[in-house]
Amino acid sequence: MTNQGLLAAKALEMRAMSYTPYSKYNVGAALLTKSGKIYTGCNIENAAYTPSNCAERTAFFKAVSEGEREFVAIAIAGGPAGSEPSEYCPPCGVCRQVMREFCDEKFEIILAKTPEDYKVYTLNEILPMGFGPTNLENT
Ligand code: THU
Repeated sequence: MTNQGLLAAKALEMRAMSYTPYSKYNVGAALLTKSGKIYTGCNIENAAYTPSNCAERTAFFKAVSEGEREFVAIAIAGGPAGSEPSEYCPPCGVCRQVMREFCDEKFEIILAKTPEDYKVYTLNEILPMGFGPTNLENT
């Protein structure tokens, strides 16, 4: 299996950890750091709805809170609970903005249906003209 496929497999596996009593849409993520570690995440919902957290941000915040700042790739897999994803799950706008904070143009965003069936995107493709840390350099 390719490295991208291995990361996709971890994202798919993490769907089992999702807490989704409201949407019943389970998302898993696996984030690879430059130091070679993988931080995983799942979506975690809340009865008040807005405190819900996406799988991608769970993975990023776990990693950043452990001191990680440099990232290579993230795999994302999502779909209705209880079955394998039939569509690619694109990251929401808030998660794209979190990626914009820490990731460069080499960062790979892997949208997976299975460990063999995935598509790879760059951040510029999915968040063109994003606002990032450099916009605040002269403040
Ligand atoms: N969700 C994610 O975890 N990641 C995404 O990129 C898209 C949406 C979650 C949020 C919510 O728990 C559920 O999927 C339905 O929106």
